[in-house]
Amino acid sequence: MEQVDVLLGLQWGDEGKGKIVDVLTPSYDIIARFQGGPNAGHTLEFEGKKYILRSIPSGIFQGDKVNVIGNGVVLDPILFAEEARALSESGHDLRKRLVISRKAHLILPTHRFIDAAQEAIKGGAKIGTTGKGIGPTYTDKIARTGLRVGDIHSDFARKYQEAKERHLTLLEAYRYPVEGLAELEAKWMEAIKYLEEFTFVDSEEYINDALRSSRRVLAEGAQGSLLDIDFGSYPFVTSSNTVCAGCCTGLGIAPRSIGQVYGIFKAYCTRVGAGPFPTELFDETGEKLCSLGHEFGSVTGRRRRCGWLDLVALRYTVMLSGVTRLIMMKSDVLDTFETIRVCTDYEIRGEKTRHFPYELTEDVHPVYRELKGWQCDTTKLTDPNDFPHALKDYIAFVEGEIGVPISIVSVGPDREQTIALHPELLPEGHA
Ligand code: GDP
Ligand code: IMO
Ligand code: MG
Repeated sequence: MEQVDVLLGLQWGDEGKGKIVDVLTPSYDIIARFQGGPNAGHTLEFEGKKYILRSIPSGIFQGDKVNVIGNGVVLDPILFAEEARALSESGHDLRKRLVISRKAHLILPTHRFIDAAQEAIKGGAKIGTTGKGIGPTYTDKIARTGLRVGDIHSDFARKYQEAKERHLTLLEAYRYPVEGLAELEAKWMEAIKYLEEFTFVDSEEYINDALRSSRRVLAEGAQGSLLDIDFGSYPFVTSSNTVCAGCCTGLGIAPRSIGQVYGIFKAYCTRVGAGPFPTELFDETGEKLCSLGHEFGSVTGRRRRCGWLDLVALRYTVMLSGVTRLIMMKSDVLDTFETIRVCTDYEIRGEKTRHFPYELTEDVHPVYRELKGWQCDTTKLTDPNDFPHALKDYIAFVEGEIGVPISIVSVGPDREQTIALHPELLPEGHA
């Protein structure tokens, strides 16, 4: 029986998951999303074109691979239809290559309003959500009042009406104005019809059958481990388990069916939305990372906060998911830096520690190690032997501190700008 390899973000999201899933896809038969929803924005660039995927797995552009939207995902029919139609118009018809779990939960129009209302009443402590209704949809799932994809074929009108009325009562209590609902609802119902044209499956059976017939599966994470509902910087997190364990519940596979775990991180760090960020930079260096890295949200366009690489956090997230191979992204953004800082420890009330604390309060101060920058253009390199010494040192330093090998370094947004450091650590059959 084959195992499921998992690729997930180790920071606060936007590490470059979409790009690497696309790069690794030729080695797999099935690519499956297991959590999150259209709060994700996964960017792929190839042949001079750029695509941003929100709900559709990043394996969709490579040949005859099957893409699965798993039960752990929350699906907004309107955004799904927009995304799928845009892909169809650009020549990528998904109908034969995408299957959707009947157990995935539906994001209703009213969930979006509740998301906005809950942010509005928070005053100063807003999470800065993507506004896509993610939290309220997972709330309904846990409260056992959600609507699932499979409900479309089972007394759907009544179930929808009941959920909507419950939501409207809540919105009234929040005194939140519900404007434009009728219009949104009409669009949503039309999108439900479009969704029905796709194949619905029991993704747990589908994936386990595939594994039994030796088909290879790559699970694609969304968000990042520091946004995990249990282990992230709570309450400034998303509402799903973004760590590897989420893959078991989000696809219906057993823990022992997990194979390699690819953990992906940027050579520095970013965060979008509110919440603590110990290595955040508020000076021109932060500005430089933001402008060279084009650090603006792919979904919301929001400016991403930028800072140095945080190894205390990275060790923690590598531990949480049992990461077996690291993938380092966007090292090219550091190409012009004379020196580069990396946080190796935290200092908390005068004590140096490598422990990731319960809360990242103002008492948490990063302790930095300064490394030499390589100060040359790496974006056209293809052979790791040609890496400048300072970049090799940077890689060796991170590997030494984390204790896991870096298998890929990414030096630009394009599919081609991807360099395998240890080809033997890549999935079998990888070109
Ligand atoms: P995801 O959510 O993890 O898939 O990441 P996003 O797509 O939200 O953000 C990553 C951004 O960095 C996108 O704009 C990518 O095109 C871009 N990107 C990915 N890898 C690299 C890289 O190695 N270098 C540079 N400069 N940009 C990259
Ligand atoms: P990808 O998959 C970066 C952040 C939001 C907010 C918090 C909660 O592209 O890496 P939510 O709408 O999920 O309730 O918002 O999580 N967030 C992301 N940040 N990348 C993402 O996805 C994110 N998805 C959610 O900014 O702080
Ligand atoms: Mg993103």
